[in-house]
Amino acid sequence: MLPAMSQETWEPPLSSPVLPGEARTDYERYLNTEELLALQKGPQEWVHRDELLFQVVHQSSELWLKLAWNDTGAAAALVAEDDLGGALRLLRRASLCMRYVTAQLDMLEHMSPWEYQEIRKVLGHGSGFDSPGVKELRPAMARLGEAFHAARERAGLSLVDLYVHGRAHEELYQLAEALMELDEWLQTWRIRHYRVVARVIGERVVGTQGTPVEVLGRLIHRVEYPELWDVRNELTARSQAES
Ligand code: HEM
Repeated sequence: MLPAMSQETWEPPLSSPVLPGEARTDYERYLNTEELLALQKGPQEWVHRDELLFQVVHQSSELWLKLAWNDTGAAAALVAEDDLGGALRLLRRASLCMRYVTAQLDMLEHMSPWEYQEIRKVLGHGSGFDSPGVKELRPAMARLGEAFHAARERAGLSLVDLYVHGRAHEELYQLAEALMELDEWLQTWRIRHYRVVARVIGERVVGTQGTPVEVLGRLIHRVEYPELWDVRNELTARSQAES
């Protein structure tokens, strides 16, 4: 005969929610799925059903950008404390975020350029220049750059020295390359965004805030760490002078 189960040993089934909230499951309570999935317009509000695609791409880009700038900011603080390994771990994730944001742009090319014109009419003065994610990422990258150069100076190295003697300063060298990786992905996103915009609305038009799309074409040259790009030129010149 099985022993009778006492009141003390009884536990609710693992499928029952235990977190605070009204939603049916802990999955929905923890992730706020009800609120999250209500953040896109519904069919009754759509001027075109591709509004769902358009909002999902933009909203998920903002989420990945949020993770990117948080990790970049935290990495800057770790570099200031000389925890270069910890910073590298976070910067790998920040760069991966930028790869995801770049990859997502592909989805926008699945909209018809003519049908997109319907969506464009309901965007008001909404412009990517007001993207909170990109607006936060750039100052976080600036703080990271300052922390990196301060660490390099504490080690008594010029940028050229760091690259020429990279093997003797492995973590600082890796950090310099992690900054490059993030910068290159932000620039790659810009280049890809420019081509997607050209493909969807054209290159000789103005955006929703009156910016000519040609301006995006000029912005693709923007980088956050020009000195890190420039040091390559110095390395090439130095190598040529030595040979
Ligand atoms: C069909 C899709 C898209 C179109 C047609 C488009 C169009 C444009 C245009 C015309 C501009 C110039 C500013 C203006 O609006 O006047 C711009 C800037 C910008 N857009 Fe988009 N965009 C699209 C998708 C996206 C997505 C998915 C993001 C992701 C966050 C994004 C982020 C930005 C940012 C950050 C800028 C400022 C420029 C920069 O920092 O390089 N855009 N976009």
